[in-house]
Amino acid sequence: MKIFIINGPNLNMLGIREPDIYGKKDLGSIESMIKLKAAKEDVEVEFYQSNHEGDLVDFIQKAYGRADGIIINPAAYTHTSLAILDALKAVDLPTVEVHLSDVDAREDFRKFSYVSLYAEKVIKGKGDQGYLEAFDYLVDKYK
Ligand code: DQA
Repeated sequence: MKIFIINGPNLNMLGIREPDIYGKKDLGSIESMIKLKAAKEDVEVEFYQSNHEGDLVDFIQKAYGRADGIIINPAAYTHTSLAILDALKAVDLPTVEVHLSDVDAREDFRKFSYVSLYAEKVIKGKGDQGYLEAFDYLVDKYK
């Protein structure tokens, strides 16, 4: 089994960026934590982060024929990107949307998600544990 884990804009700044909201762990540590779990469960994971919408679309398209599931934190593009929604629909893989913060408890503009129109599961407000929960969900589904 192979899972693509995709992170959108400003998530490369985790650890520095608004730690009260997003936590103190950087993206590299989250990646290592998931890789450790993936190795134990014999699952392949491929990580990608970009600050650019088109690059995220390109990477989602790469999942076609190569991945069995997608975990995506589209960050700010969650609330704006029809292109990311369409890319996810195009590759048609089981997808879990993850947000570190509880987007529903924040500003109104964070309450709407294009990606939620496709994702079969949405995990919000659980910090970095949300990625592990998403991983478990996809692995359980695949088995
Ligand atoms: C986020 C929530 C988004 O609203 C925000 O733009 C982000 C991060 C989260 O993980 O909580 O960049 O996706």
